[in-house]
Parts: sequence; structure tokens; C-alpha cells
Amino acid sequence: MQENFSLKPYNTFGVDAKAKYFIEVSNTDELKEALTFSKNHGLPLLLLGGGSNILLTKDFEGLAIKLNLKGISEENISNHEVLVTAKAGENWHEFVKYCLQKDYGGLENLSLIPGNVGTSPMQNIGAYGTEIKDIFVNCLVLNLKTLELETFNLEECKFGYRDSIFKQEGKGKYVILEVTFKLTTKDHHIKTEYGAIKNELEHLKINTPSIQDVSNAVINIRQSKLPDPKEIGNAGSFFKNPTIPLAQFQDLKQNFENIQGYPNGDVVKVPAGWLIEQCGWKGKQIGNVASHRLQSLVIINATGNATGKEIFDFSTDIINSVKEKFGIELEREVNII
Ligand code: EPU
Repeated sequence: MQENFSLKPYNTFGVDAKAKYFIEVSNTDELKEALTFSKNHGLPLLLLGGGSNILLTKDFEGLAIKLNLKGISEENISNHEVLVTAKAGENWHEFVKYCLQKDYGGLENLSLIPGNVGTSPMQNIGAYGTEIKDIFVNCLVLNLKTLELETFNLEECKFGYRDSIFKQEGKGKYVILEVTFKLTTKDHHIKTEYGAIKNELEHLKINTPSIQDVSNAVINIRQSKLPDPKEIGNAGSFFKNPTIPLAQFQDLKQNFENIQGYPNGDVVKVPAGWLIEQCGWKGKQIGNVASHRLQSLVIINATGNATGKEIFDFSTDIINSVKEKFGIELEREVNII
């Protein structure tokens, strides 16, 4: 257990906020011990996975627990499907690579997403036409109140766009310990409908892509426009893509004929990146913080010295200008601590 510990290496924004107490745990018993300590001392808890979706706006006056549980196991369930279980502390992309090497299909569109396996169900991570709900079987969790183990299946997780029970009524009540996915061992379902993947595969001159080809295409696209958190502090998309009523979209179309939208029944999902860019934020820097020059939905710690408060205030300025120009209220995707 460490005291007054800098969390700078433990959040991908690279914000230098301190935790009053910090501990790394590598199994359930250590985790339970840490939880008991926090309970006995009345300390608030901060559970850290890969730290890729949090913004620390101030020092944390409690116990930060870094989840380091490691291990991957497999069980064949038919001649073309396998269940693969990974513990929470496994790095997401290393896990994807492990599955690709074994030619297990289902995770390829989710290549290179920052973070750990254990946090993937929290916000139902998704990219390029796939979300983890498409391959998720269940997750094992520790109930923080009872310290008992529980299992949540697909339905119980209530997955939505960047959403799950763990961000809603289950918030702060469970620690995800491991996640099980159902993957294919042959006859893979190749998903290349997403425009950017199609274009990249054409560019690579690949007509019948394998899962490894799809993964490579996704890696190329991500590397071409998303900053690597190891080089520039960021937490991926800072906002969710907003959903607005069809009527509001049609009104906006009168004034902004280039506005893009993905209709779904009587609502339309609008790319937040486009809205932000239209307000002049793309590549704009204020102090230590900027909107990324290639993808305005990503806020970056441009100098490496930004405080969480500065990043938060920058995001508020973006929300206000999008609201003023389009009447749309952007919602933060990143967890604000
Ligand atoms: N766009 C702009 N300007 C920008 C950014 C985007 O006009 O600065 C437009 C693009 O031209 C495109 C549309 O917005 O037509 C969508 O852009 P893109 O394909 O880059 O996807 P996105 O909606 O901006 C979402 C996810 C990403 C995910 C990609 C690919 C959210 C909040 N973000 O971004 O997820 O990688 O789709 O599937 O849903 C993340 O969550 O951290 C993340 C990076």
C-alpha cells in the first residue's frame, strides 16, 4: 500500500493527480483484503483498469486499486466455437492478438482499443461495426457489498451504445473479475460493412479478407487518425455520438446541408466529431489542452502538463459551443472522477 501516490502512469490522459492510498492486486483474495481496508477506514474507492476512460479532475481522497488479475483459459463448445475467458487485468489488444494468433474470430474489429478486458463490458466497447455485446457470454464479478461472486449474462448486462448496467443501476456496486467471449474457430463472420474498413481493404487490394486482414485494416485506420496514448495523453472519444429526434435532424438539415446522420427508427445518431469540427475546434489548443487535429472527438493532453480540471473545462467549452450552434447537448463518454 502506498500513500500520496501519483496516478500519472495509471491514466492514459497522463494527468498528475494523487491518490491518498494506492494498491495493486493480482488475485481475488488481495482484492477482498483491499476492499476490507477501505471499508474499515471509510475510504472511497477508485477501481483502475487500463485507465483509458477516466479523467481525474482532482486528487483522489480514498483508496485507488489497480486490478492486475491475469490469465486466459479456453473451452471448446462445438466444432466451430470456443469460449475464451480472460481475467480483468489482461490488456485488451494483447488479448485480441492472442485470439487472432489462434485464428479465433469475433474480436478483430475491436483491435487496438486501449484499456483492459475487465473494463470492456462497462461501456460495451465498440468500433468499426462491432460491440462486445456481439460476442459476450458472461462476466464474473465481485459484489462490493457482500464480497460474494456473481455472474452476469448477456441480458443481465443491459448493454447499449457505450452503456451497460455497470454504468447505470450497478454503478459502483461490482468489480468485474473476468469476462467470457464466444468466438468462432472456423467459418468466421467477417464484418466489413463499415465504410472505412471497406476502403482500407480496397487500398490493401484484399478481396476475401481473413480475420487477420480485418484486424490489420482496423489497426491502420486507428493509427492513421487516433493518437497513441503512449505518445500523447488522451482517452479516445471524449463524447458519445448524440442521438436526436428525426424532426430535429430534418430541421438542422435545412441550415446545415452537410450534416451527417445514421437514422434508426425515429431517431438519428449524429457524429459528434463533425459537430465539434464545425464549431472550429478541430486541432485547436487552449493552454495545455487541444482537440486532436485528425479526429476532433478526441481531446488530448497536448503538452503533457494538462491538469484534469483544464481538460474538463475545455470539454465544457466544446459542449457549450455545440449547444449554441446546433442545439445539441453532447454527453461525455469518459468517466469524470
Ligand atoms: N468526423 C468529422 N470530423 C471529425 C471526426 C469525425 O467530420 O473530426 C466525421 C467523419 O468524417 C465520419 C463520422 O464523423 O463521417 C464518423 O467518424 P469515425 O468513423 O471516425 O467515427 P466516430 O463516430 O467519430 C466512433 C467511436 C470510436 C470508434 C469509431 C469507429 C464513439 C463515441 N466513438 O467514432 O470509438 O473507434 O466510431 O467505429 O462512438 C472510443 O470510443 O474511444 C473510440 C475511439
